[in-house]
Amino acid sequence: MGEQYFETRPRSTHRPGRFAVTIRGHPFTFQTDAGVFSGRRLDRGSELLLAALEVGPCESILDLGCGYGIIGIVAARLSEGGRVVLTDVNERAVALANANVNANGIRNAEVRTGDLYEPVADLAFDHILANPPIRAGRVIVDRIVVDAPPRLLEGGSLWLVARTRQGADSIRVRMAKAFGNATIVKRGSGFKVLRSTKPGA
Ligand SMILES: C[S@@+](CC[C@H](N)C(=O)[O-])C[C@H]1O[C@@H](n2cnc3c(N)ncnc32)[C@H](O)[C@@H]1O
Repeated sequence: MGEQYFETRPRSTHRPGRFAVTIRGHPFTFQTDAGVFSGRRLDRGSELLLAALEVGPCESILDLGCGYGIIGIVAARLSEGGRVVLTDVNERAVALANANVNANGIRNAEVRTGDLYEPVADLAFDHILANPPIRAGRVIVDRIVVDAPPRLLEGGSLWLVARTRQGADSIRVRMAKAFGNATIVKRGSGFKVLRSTKPGA
């Protein structure tokens, strides 16, 4: 079986790539590689999440499972004065995300390596964003959902995107159980963007 995109240390032969894209009116360039998720182009699910995303200035944002960094880098550009942490378990992805933060002139983001919320155990966020690693299995996706509330500030939101035929509706049920609410904020190209908000603000 081929290597999965969530290996800690991918061994696939490097196939460096680069693409330019304009998102929410801002131009970006991204360096990509084999051994990371969607290493040739922007994934449709990530694109839909970024189209739906509502972030304000000066907000704290986590991009969990950042891959080459597209979600966190766009969020950093959208939240003027905000602070973004990007994390991934895949060291090749982390290296690319770091390079892409620098190449896009992003000054309000940092990249950390590690499993799920472990690299940000000291922090709490206004937004947690993820295009979750469905192929890593239900246990991982469940942990992203169930462990999110303690990592969110009051009124903070968990935003997830998933393909309808890869279980978006059952992820929404699990989000509703963990938060008491879960809304479909956007749908398209066979994906749904889901948002749950931590009560209390
Ligand atoms: C579907 S990809 C999304 C990547 C990127 N956010 C994007 O939109 O292109 C999911 C990412 O989660 C990462 N991942 C998988 N298991 C993880 C874990 N246990 N902790 C942190 N990241 C993980 C994978 O390495 C992969 O980069």
